[in-house]
Amino acid sequence: MAEPRIGVVGATGAVGSVTLELLAERGLGQVRAFASSRSAGTTVPYGGSELVVEEATKGALGSGELDLCFFSVGTGPSSELVPAAVAGGAVCVDKSSAFRLTDGVPLVVPEVNGDRAPSHQGIVANPNCSTIQLVCALAPLHEAGGLTSVRVATYQSASGAGAERMEALRSQPPADGDIVMDWDFEGDESEEESKLRAETRKILELPDLSLSATCARVPVLVGHSQAVWVETEQPLSPDEAREILAAAPGVTMTEKPTPRQAAGGDQVLVGRIREDRAGEGLALWVVCDNLRKGAALNAIQIAELLLASQALAA
Ligand SMILES: NC(=O)c1ccc[n+]([C@@H]2O[C@H](COP(=O)([O-])OP(=O)(O)OC[C@H]3O[C@@H](n4cnc5c(N)ncnc54)[C@H](OP(=O)(O)O)[C@@H]3O)[C@@H](O)[C@H]2O)c1
Repeated sequence: MAEPRIGVVGATGAVGSVTLELLAERGLGQVRAFASSRSAGTTVPYGGSELVVEEATKGALGSGELDLCFFSVGTGPSSELVPAAVAGGAVCVDKSSAFRLTDGVPLVVPEVNGDRAPSHQGIVANPNCSTIQLVCALAPLHEAGGLTSVRVATYQSASGAGAERMEALRSQPPADGDIVMDWDFEGDESEEESKLRAETRKILELPDLSLSATCARVPVLVGHSQAVWVETEQPLSPDEAREILAAAPGVTMTEKPTPRQAAGGDQVLVGRIREDRAGEGLALWVVCDNLRKGAALNAIQIAELLLASQALAA
């Protein structure tokens, strides 16, 4: 396919705007921008020019005029609009949680399980931003030692909750002591915490992996941080883990990674690898730009895999 016809759905949002930026940098395809009726007729930057935003209706997306759609609109709108776009012949890379755990829908991080992407039946799901950076660090350790247990505490940025939350952080600096856990809770666990476990299990194909998470949002604009503790069947020393992760695709080892270092970059930064003084395994610190590798970039890499393997048609 020479010039895929691409729809960016959610183009006015935090992830959609980065998707447009990355597509323009790559010069990939003929791009159209879609969002809700609220934004229809406005414009969004695209390369050196602008695109007029179209309303994302089932009719427009299912018209047969699109080969590939990137969705970043949330679970409700995705549940309704993605099937319409697929019915019209587009392959959809969806960033919501609508289809991530659906049987037959590949949930893909190219560095980890990119080989799954071409098996799609019209939809490839993009994992949660926290899951993406976590599995980039876990997969090489699993391959070397066989993961048995993972504990993770997250420190997630405002941009993970969308453009409105970014604006709120810019315009109203938080009061001292503001750390929030603003996800829905089912019992004693937030949906972010249960997603992290379920998605990691699916991607690593470890349905019984023991994984416990505590997720929190911190007053940082871009870049999620994670403190991670892992145990493996074959013990790995900190030096062995450093060597493994230094060679891992998409991972850069750095001593003390921060969100500021990660923001605007494409790599998952891993550092502070040491023995877990309270357990049998290792402790590490993982940081990533949640809007790029955690969302838009990962989705574009999936599309590039599909294009390379000529798997764009469902
Ligand atoms: N932010 C992250 O780091 C991140 C990472 C991974 C995955 N995701 C997922 O990506 C999705 C979007 O996140 P975001 O952070 O970009 O949110 P956002 O900044 O709030 O943007 C939401 C976008 O969706 C559009 N939209 C909302 N309702 C719609 C509807 N009914 N029909 C068509 N378009 C609609 C909005 O258009 P209007 O401007 O017209 O309202 C806007 O373009 C979510 O599913 C989120 O879970 C986000």
